[in-house]
Amino acid sequence: MWRAALLASVILVFPACDKDRINESYWRERGAEAVMPLKKNLKRALVKAVEQGPVEAVTACHAVAPAVTKGAGSRVARVGRTSHKLRNPSNAPKLWMQPLLQGYLTAPDQMEPRVVVLDDDTVGYVEPIYLQPMCVTCHGTAIAPDVLERIDELYPADDATGFEPGHFRGIFWAELSRN
Ligand code: HEC
Repeated sequence: MWRAALLASVILVFPACDKDRINESYWRERGAEAVMPLKKNLKRALVKAVEQGPVEAVTACHAVAPAVTKGAGSRVARVGRTSHKLRNPSNAPKLWMQPLLQGYLTAPDQMEPRVVVLDDDTVGYVEPIYLQPMCVTCHGTAIAPDVLERIDELYPADDATGFEPGHFRGIFWAELSRN
């Protein structure tokens, strides 16, 4: 009897395992490619915004970042950023990202990019974002009062301050089409 049960469970479980098996290094490369335009465009927009001074840069970032993020997606990949400490609540992590985000927070010695099967058609990709010296103007521990005021105006629930260079700030993510 137990044999029949075992056989049934093998038959039931196996197809799922098979579909979940992916070539991880292939998908890590696809993921890195997919988030590259978003990284570049955000960086370009940020550098340009900061030239206007940090307060104006917060406003510019507020106006530009969501559009840049949306525009960086493609037919084969949706991309974005999320964090455990959010500034914009609409960047909140989707369900599949939460354990990966948690994983980076609890195992700081394992910060390599990750891929996971989301469903038959989609693979999820994440890679960590670290704070750089230029980021402390708006995410650091000693933000200028006028900058902080503008941040509070635009993001009343802001939780994205108190970081230092080198800190884990969040993740870039991609949802990659398998077809
Ligand atoms: C001029 C101020 C400013 C600077 C400098 C800045 N940011 Fe931000 N950051 C913002 C604003 C404003 C948002 C919210 C954008 C939005 O509305 O989507 C944000 C959002 C983010 C997010 C998305 C998650 C969230 O909290 O909503 C990440 C990740 C992030 N910043 C990382 C960085 C990193 C890394 C740097 C340095 C390379 C940096 N930021 C520099 C103002 C700034």
